[in-house]
Amino acid sequence: MTTNDPGSMETPQVERSRTPVVSSWNEWDPLEEVVVGSADGACFEPTEPGCRPTVRGGGGAFPTGPKPAEMIARANEELDGLAALLTSRGVRVRRPSTVDFATAVSAPTFDVANQYCAVCPRDVIVTIGSEIIEATMSRRARYFEFLAYRDLVYRYWNSDDRVRWTTAPRPSMRDEMYREEFWSIPLEERYARMHSFEFCISQDEVVFDAADMSRFGRDVFVQESMTTNRAGIRWLRRHLEPQGIRVRPVHFPLDLFPSHIDCTFVPLRPGLVLTNPDRPLLDGEDRLFIENGWKLVNAPEPTTGNDGMPRYCQSSKWLSMNVLSISPTEVICEERETPLHALLDSLGFEVLTVPFRHVFEYGGSLHCATWDVRRTGTMEDYFPDASSDQAT
Ligand code: ARG
Repeated sequence: MTTNDPGSMETPQVERSRTPVVSSWNEWDPLEEVVVGSADGACFEPTEPGCRPTVRGGGGAFPTGPKPAEMIARANEELDGLAALLTSRGVRVRRPSTVDFATAVSAPTFDVANQYCAVCPRDVIVTIGSEIIEATMSRRARYFEFLAYRDLVYRYWNSDDRVRWTTAPRPSMRDEMYREEFWSIPLEERYARMHSFEFCISQDEVVFDAADMSRFGRDVFVQESMTTNRAGIRWLRRHLEPQGIRVRPVHFPLDLFPSHIDCTFVPLRPGLVLTNPDRPLLDGEDRLFIENGWKLVNAPEPTTGNDGMPRYCQSSKWLSMNVLSISPTEVICEERETPLHALLDSLGFEVLTVPFRHVFEYGGSLHCATWDVRRTGTMEDYFPDASSDQAT
């Protein structure tokens, strides 16, 4: 399931009359085409200035190099299951190319012993309207992850001349780009300084991961995090604003190790965001939502506590809320998250479920493991009352 059928991309002539082959404005419109990640060739994430992986439960050194074949097979089985469910709902599914992530990278400005994986396309690449943007990335081991998606990007780009394609500035990833001291700050000091929003990357270069963005039509919210700095947000703003898109930074001060917004603030349909009760929005940043009639609804406690997460998983229990919307009324959730199923059901959603626990140790769940290429719909303004506009 992890290769693409080369003959299947439609021709430009056919596409001309319809929606561009790449077109997606938000996280909830009906999903037509999606890329589902693959664990083929995956490695353990290496220790580097932007990442300090640890074994849960304090079990010694974090492994290095390729992941064992059975671990990869278990994750692939679940990823294939997601692909099959999506296909059965009429969504066209494509998969990344196989990359050997065990290859070391030696660049003029950094070295890294091995790379990571192509399980989470969400982190690397984003569709905004008919534009594909490849993120700068924030970690050395992920610098070349875009290669897993290049065959697909070229096919989309070649098949429809309305598709735009941008790669963000390449960061140096040299030692000076990072704040290594971040990793040794005591917890009390982290709380005392939580409003400074300074994490493991410095502010000098443009740095962002695609998964720190959440798309709401004309408005794109971007989280300041360990993986996205203020220069990264400025670059996105300068790039997207001429197209009429408002880029709005958001902050979740109680998340002391923030990375990727999709376990923290997850829009489900116009007017409704699933929020993380442990990570409220910065005071004042909720005003825009409230004034425009949006409801922020807290996710229930995940069924697995942080202690019960897979041994090598570097994410929190809040992967529970990393759901994938396939329309404003249908959401795919991890199969064991029954309290969340009940909440979504009471909010009027049809809840579809798949097992996905073995994917957790690859850094994400259902939203992370996908890149939506095409959703029905156009650019809408969901925040017409901008009296509390904080875009500065
Ligand atoms: N840092 C998040 C958490 O632990 C996980 C984010 C996963 N998202 C992703 N797109 N890989 O809560």
